[in-house]
Parts: sequence; C-alpha cells; structure tokens
Amino acid sequence: MTAQHHQSVMFDESIEGLNIKNNGIYIDATFGRGGHTLGILNKLNNNGKVIAFDQDISAVNYAKENFNDGRLEVVHSAFTHMGEVLNERSLSGKIDGILMDLGVSSPQLDNAQRGFSFNTDGPLDMRMDQTRGISAAQWLSQADETEIANVIYEFGEEKKSRHIASAIKRYQQDRPIDTTLQLANIIASVVKTKKNKHPATRSFQAIRIFINQELKQLSEVLEQTLQLLAPEGRLCVISFHSIEDRIVKQFIQRHSRQKQLPKGLPIMNSGIEPTLFKNLGKQFSSQAEISNNKRSRSAILRIAERTTLVVEKC
Ligand SMILES: C[S@@+](CC[C@H](N)C(=O)[O-])C[C@H]1O[C@@H](n2cnc3c(N)ncnc32)[C@H](O)[C@@H]1O
Repeated sequence: MTAQHHQSVMFDESIEGLNIKNNGIYIDATFGRGGHTLGILNKLNNNGKVIAFDQDISAVNYAKENFNDGRLEVVHSAFTHMGEVLNERSLSGKIDGILMDLGVSSPQLDNAQRGFSFNTDGPLDMRMDQTRGISAAQWLSQADETEIANVIYEFGEEKKSRHIASAIKRYQQDRPIDTTLQLANIIASVVKTKKNKHPATRSFQAIRIFINQELKQLSEVLEQTLQLLAPEGRLCVISFHSIEDRIVKQFIQRHSRQKQLPKGLPIMNSGIEPTLFKNLGKQFSSQAEISNNKRSRSAILRIAERTTLVVEKC
C-alpha cells in the first residue's frame, strides 16, 4: 500500500445506495483519493457527470494527476460551498445523488507532517485545508483551560477532559506544544485506556473535529442537499463516530416524518413542513470488510431519497 492509498469504506453499499442512473449528475463531497468517484464514473455513460469536492489541496492535486476524465470536475473547496458551486452551474435541484464519506483519509493520517497522528511525530497542525484557519498548536496556545476541556469533552466524549486540559496548561508554563508526540505524551500521562486503544485517541479526534469545524460543516451541507437533489435523488452519508451519525440521523428523520395535514388544508397554507425525504435506513460494514480494513469498523452508512414533492417558496 502506498502513502497515497486510501481504501474506500463501504464501497459497494454506497454505490448501490446512490442507485446510479447512467446519465445522471452526482456529487462526491469528499473526494479523498477518488475511490468512490471512480465507482460512480464506472456506472455512468458519456452524458453522466461527477462534481467532486475536497478541501485538501493534496486530494485535488491527486485528482489532477490521476484522473483524466472529461466527466469529472474536482473543486478545491469545503463542501459547505456546494450550494453556491452548483447554483453557478445552474444545477440546483438537478443532482441525482450526493455521497459524503466523512473524516480524514489514510494519506492525511499517514503523513506525519499533517499532524493528525498520535503515533508518529510531526507538527501539530490537523487542518484538512492548510491554506486557511489556525493549526491545533496555535489553538492550544491561545485557548484557556476551560475551552480546551470543553472541546475534548464535547467532540471526543472524553471523561478525563478536565485533567487533560489542566496537564496541557501546566506543560505550556515551561514550553509550547508544537508536535503531535508532545501532545500525545501529555495526554498519556493522565489517561489510562485498554491495551489496544491509545489514550490520545478521543482527544485527537476532538481537537481535529474542532479545528476543522467538522460538525458545523456537516449540519450546513445537509441542509443544502434539500435544494440540490432532484426528485428521487439519493443522499448517502458514511460517518465514523456517534456524534456525526446522530446529526445525519436526526436530519433525515426530521425531513422524512409523515406529517398529518388537517383535512382539506393545502400544504402551502398549513405551516407544516412537507416530507422531503424517504428514509432508506442505515447499514454497517460487513465482517469481511472489517477484517480487511479496520477503519471500516465504526462506519455507518445512512441513505435517504428525495421525495418527488417539489418545494416552492410560498
Ligand atoms: C474519508 S476521506 C474520503 C475518501 C474517498 N471517499 C475515497 O474513496 O478515496 C475524506 C476526504 O474528505 C475531505 N473532507 C473532509 N471534510 C471535508 C469538507 N468539509 N469539505 C471538503 N472536503 C472534506 C478530506 O480532506 C478527505 O480528503
């Protein structure tokens, strides 16, 4: 396996979940190394199209070097700009499927210079888009103890968050925290976990989610999918931890509940939100995939289909 390799998670299930029409327009919101994009392209004829997003320039460069396909457009942007990008192309309401495979890719994790890994030493960066925002090291130097504890608790569900934040601030009285191993060792000095789980797992996840504003971005893009999907267009989201999955689950449930209209009252005047999605449920990775790719262990794929009802602004 090369440093550029990413093994796509729940590949068959998500491609099937998209229910691909061979002349359709599909969005891969998280290009990575393009495994899912390739799966979609392979199902399209010459009239089909994929627009892919990635906020990491190295993913976009990889696409330029390795994908020579006129049906693919790759956009270097956070997926929260999906609505704008598709509006500019007059594609709002015409999208047949949107796939999101959340989190970081293996090349991001495996490159110590990106600062995502607690196993290898590198600068404590953790930004998926290194052209904007602040690094984890900068944030840790300017945030106070309570803010750090809250982030680690909220996004990592780490019970020892207060002890960790206090250890971080104690350490910073002598010197700054610049590298991943410095941070991992500080956390390991106050957290004890089971043998096969590194004590810094939850805290690194939490800081990464915070630095990249991952949950906020997810909530924002989900709302945009309502306007972007064509009738019967599919939404497929693969998430890797419970907080993320809860956001996806609640979004789909909120828009797929059957609403009871008072008899004879047209929906436009009812004040009741129409049902915009059919909930097609969730799936997990197979045992075979889990034994072949550990990362797929925690994956949950949720699928929903846009209803045929067109929402008009009243
Ligand atoms: C798990 S990988 C996707 C792997 C891909 N499905 C494949 O098969 O190669 C997630 C990718 O999404 C990108 N990403 C994560 N959040 C993003 C966001 N909010 N906007 C755009 N790209 C994002 C990351 O930079 C990373 O390259």
